[in-house]
Amino acid sequence: MSEPASQPLRALHHLAVRAAVAAGRFIVEERPVNLGVADTKTSPTDVVTEMDRNCEALIRRLLHTTRPDDAILGEEGGGVAGNSGVTWVVDPIDGTVNYLYQLPAYAVSVAAVVGDPFVPGAWTPVAGAVCNPLLGEVFHARAGSGARLVNVDQLDLARDPATQGAVLTCTDPASLLGSLVGTGFGYDAADRAWQGAFVAQLLPRVRDIRRVGSAALDLAYLAAARLDGYVEVGLQPWDMAAGWLIVREAGGQVSGVAGQPPSARGVVAAGRGIHPELQALVDELLPPARAAGAP
Ligand code: IPD
Ligand code: CA
Ligand code: CA
Repeated sequence: MSEPASQPLRALHHLAVRAAVAAGRFIVEERPVNLGVADTKTSPTDVVTEMDRNCEALIRRLLHTTRPDDAILGEEGGGVAGNSGVTWVVDPIDGTVNYLYQLPAYAVSVAAVVGDPFVPGAWTPVAGAVCNPLLGEVFHARAGSGARLVNVDQLDLARDPATQGAVLTCTDPASLLGSLVGTGFGYDAADRAWQGAFVAQLLPRVRDIRRVGSAALDLAYLAAARLDGYVEVGLQPWDMAAGWLIVREAGGQVSGVAGQPPSARGVVAAGRGIHPELQALVDELLPPARAAGAP
């Protein structure tokens, strides 16, 4: 999983930011007036719009034109193999339900990863960007260079992105009780049942909870000190790839559940101070089947 020597991280970082910003502009400017649900995916609540598909097609074209040897894994279009050792992991609209309802909490997430994103624990993000186009916010990071938040209007793609924007640092609250914790609900009914029960147990032990509606933004907000912690079950690589790196580079910790790496079984993220407490609580409340390794 080491960085391929021939793949300068700066170029990957630059392309992640460029793609996320271009795609963000596209989903705002090209949104049809009467946008509706085009299809459903894993469950009747898991919706897709024509803009999810069109946006991913745009990102794929941009990535492939710039770096034809890289692999691409996108939420809507699946995987395409490459031979460079780099895979682009893309969520064209994270927060599709918010996008559908015109709630301003959705984002484009683009990350370059090394390793196999299909195998939990066998991959790691090395560059990534999460763009909320309505607010003009671009959260971005590359391995070893820190995480930053830049406004699209201030972004200069002729310069190294690692020097652009405000440096992000996760919070360090004294306890879970004084922490604002983000979470989300997947589209799987069984997962939702556990998530509801989990939130009921979490709520009395924290300052409050937030359900933003975009996992990529949850992680970016954690890095930007707008949340103190984040927990979710059922995330896919495209939901977490860029945000995971941004949290890590902001000094936070991202883990899985029950000693596993981050995966669909669970993601627990927080500043280093409260991470152990949050992890212990999540592991304690985990349904026995999931703790035993059920997907
Ligand atoms: C969803 C969002 C949501 C999270 C779900 C994800 P989508 O992604 O990130 O916040 O709770 O687990 O599937 O479907 O909007 O790309
Ligand atoms: Ca998503
Ligand atoms: Ca999506």
